[in-house]
Parts: sequence; structure tokens; C-alpha cells
Amino acid sequence: MQALRILLAVLFSWLVAVSGAHADPLATQDKAKQTWQLLDYLAVDYGGAVRDGKVQSASEYEEMKEFAATAVQQLAALPSTPALPELKRQATALSELIAAKADAKAVADSAHSLAAALVKAYPFPLSPSTPPDLARAKVLFEANCAACHGATGRGDGPLGAKLTPPPIAFTDRDRARSRSVLALYQVISQGVAGTSMPSFATLSDEDRWALAFFAGTLSHDDAMRARGEQSWGRDATAKAVFPDLAAAATLTEAALSERMPPDTARDLTAYVRSHPEVTITANGTGGVGLARARLQESLAAARAGDQANATRLALSAYLDGFEPLEPALRARNQALLTEVENSMLAYRGALASGKLEQADATAQKLDYLFAQVDTELGRIKPSR
Ligand code: HEC
Repeated sequence: MQALRILLAVLFSWLVAVSGAHADPLATQDKAKQTWQLLDYLAVDYGGAVRDGKVQSASEYEEMKEFAATAVQQLAALPSTPALPELKRQATALSELIAAKADAKAVADSAHSLAAALVKAYPFPLSPSTPPDLARAKVLFEANCAACHGATGRGDGPLGAKLTPPPIAFTDRDRARSRSVLALYQVISQGVAGTSMPSFATLSDEDRWALAFFAGTLSHDDAMRARGEQSWGRDATAKAVFPDLAAAATLTEAALSERMPPDTARDLTAYVRSHPEVTITANGTGGVGLARARLQESLAAARAGDQANATRLALSAYLDGFEPLEPALRARNQALLTEVENSMLAYRGALASGKLEQADATAQKLDYLFAQVDTELGRIKPSR
């Protein structure tokens, strides 16, 4: 039933948004956000409706079908762009999967990839512009949320006991695995119609993000965070999967578990959500800055006739500066990614064959490309 209420809430805000100004960029952002939220719920809740090709709950299954149909309709109402036909095709494919009672993973993957394509085509902020203040969130949580969700988020606050449906327990590991911080932020911002979960739109955007990160930490314990911190310090791929705040806000533990052992995914998530600022200091736009700096140093070494150092610095520009940004860039601008990779290759080639002029020209082009990467990665972060 939770699904139905969310559907109603989404439909309602959708009607409000549609009745507003046409092609207003903010209204478009809101529509895209709501469709994203719908797809996210579909990915999380479908597993409760169908298992092993069999319907577990007829009413929930009906809701899932309706969700997918609504996503198709909502896409049709977005302003037309070159990406829209492909999004519509994906939404139809998702409906067909659900009609065929496909397994939960196939549906979740399809819903998530459509959601990712949607945010790429109709960008909206995926994360706060600065790392959230979790100490402040704790205080806000005690004042605004603990009465229902409980002091430690177990869903057992004094007020919560009397509510139907009951407040969500943020400590529920199974549910938490499939909840992104962005999904929590959306619920906190919009509330859930037909339940006692109110909208906290009166709180500032920063506070809502901080609360979302905080709620996203409550299924973890200190031992997980400590192990996560160790793998963060030791393992370059850990930093590569969390290149920025947007990754910290959008990645679910379930999705991360497909790329590394589930326990490592859990521990890393535990650490990054409780210290989101590390994604900025480790990589962020610092990655581009580092890449540009190393490249200049490399060029200087080449001019001074130190070919070995020039090559080493060029590799460092690529591996330490640029590579951690690749997953984020691949999701947003594959063409630019390829161009940077090819130019880095050309640059190292020029160094190897001692063609200084060519190295110089390629380095200039790369510097320009890196600036574009900066813009591209900053593009769907909030510009406030
Ligand atoms: C009056 C009681 C009440 C208060 C106060 C309240 N909530 Fe809720 N909250 C609920 C209920 C009930 C639900 C479950 C709604 C449903 O069944 O869909 C919920 C659901 C949520 C969810 C969705 C979780 C998920 O996994 O889908 C989030 C996030 C959330 N609340 C955050 C907060 C935060 C943060 C605060 C404080 C700023 C807060 N809530 C205050 C009652 C409350």
C-alpha cells in the first residue's frame, strides 16, 4: 500500500507542476525529479510484488504496473529533446518487463538505468553543493524526527507507535541497502501523502540534505565505518567509485555490491555517508586541478629535456588526476571522456618520440579539455 500512496503523492505534485508555467526550466526539473523518484520506488518495491515469476501480492503488482505506465505518461509530458525518444523506449521496455513478471533484478536494473538516463537528459541537482553538516543533522533529527522515527531511527518513537502505517525504521538493513541518500532527501522534501510523514520543505535545502545523509547512516555501526575508512585509505578503486558528492548521494549499497564484495560495499557506504567530505578532498574537482597541474609539470620537464620525468608526470596526470573522475564523466559525457583519453595517449606518444612541438600543442588542447570536464561535472551539481 505504501506504493499506492507514493503514486498518489507523485501524481498530485505532478498535476500541480503541469498546471504551472510551460517549459519553465524549474518546472521541468521538478517533473524529472518526480519521475526519478517514481522509478526509484519501483526498483526498490518490485521485489515485494513479484518473486521467481510469481505474483506475491496482487495489489502491489497492480501498483507496479501503474507506476510504469505513469512513468511513460510523465515522460511524454517533458519538453522534447533528442534524448526523449530513447527514454520513452526504455520506459516501454520497463513496462513490458513488469507485464512479463520478470525477476526483481532485471526490473531494478531497467528502472535504475532509465532513471540515470533521465537525469542526464533533464539534469537536476543530485547532491548538496557543499558537504552536509552531520552534527547539525543529529540535532535536527532529535528535534523533528525522533518522536516518530525514534532517537536511534528504529521507527520506535513515542508518537510512532500509534501510527498506521508506522514510521520507517532507518535501522532496517534490508531496506537501507536499496535506499540512496537522494531518495531519502526526496521523501524529506516532499513527504508521503496519505501518511503522517510530513514534507519538511520549510527546512533549508542544506538541512534536508544533511538529514538525508544522517538517516542514511543509521543502519550502520562504528565497526563498519572503521573498516570502511581502512579500505578508503588503502584502495584506489574505493575512491574511484565515489568521485564526488553526487556519487555519495546517489549510489545504493545494493548497486555497489555488484562492483565489490557486499561487506566491503556496506562498510565503504557506512564510511562515506558519515564523512561525505572525503569525496571532495580525495577527488572532486581537485581531480581535474591535479591533472592540469601534473600536465604542466610534465611539459616543463619535457622542455628541460627530462623525458623520463615528463612521462612519469603525464601518467600521474592521468592516473591520479583524471582516472578517478572517469565513472562520473562516463555517465554524463562519453564523447568528452574518449577525447581526453585519446589526447592523453597522443601526448605520451609525442613525448616518447621526442616531438616537443606536438607535445606542446596536445598539452594545450588537453588543458582546454580538462576545463570542459570541470564544467561538465559541475553542470548537474547545484549552482547555488
Ligand atoms: C509524525 C510522524 C513523523 C515525523 C515527525 C517524521 N516522519 Fe518520516 N516517516 C513517517 C512515516 C509514517 C513514514 C512512512 C511513510 C510510508 O509508509 O510511506 C515516514 C517515512 C520517512 C522516510 C522514507 C524512508 C524510506 O526508506 O522510504 C524518510 C526518509 C523520513 N521519513 C525521514 C524523516 C525525517 C528526516 C524526519 C524529520 C525531519 C521525519 N521523517 C519526521 C512519519 C514521520
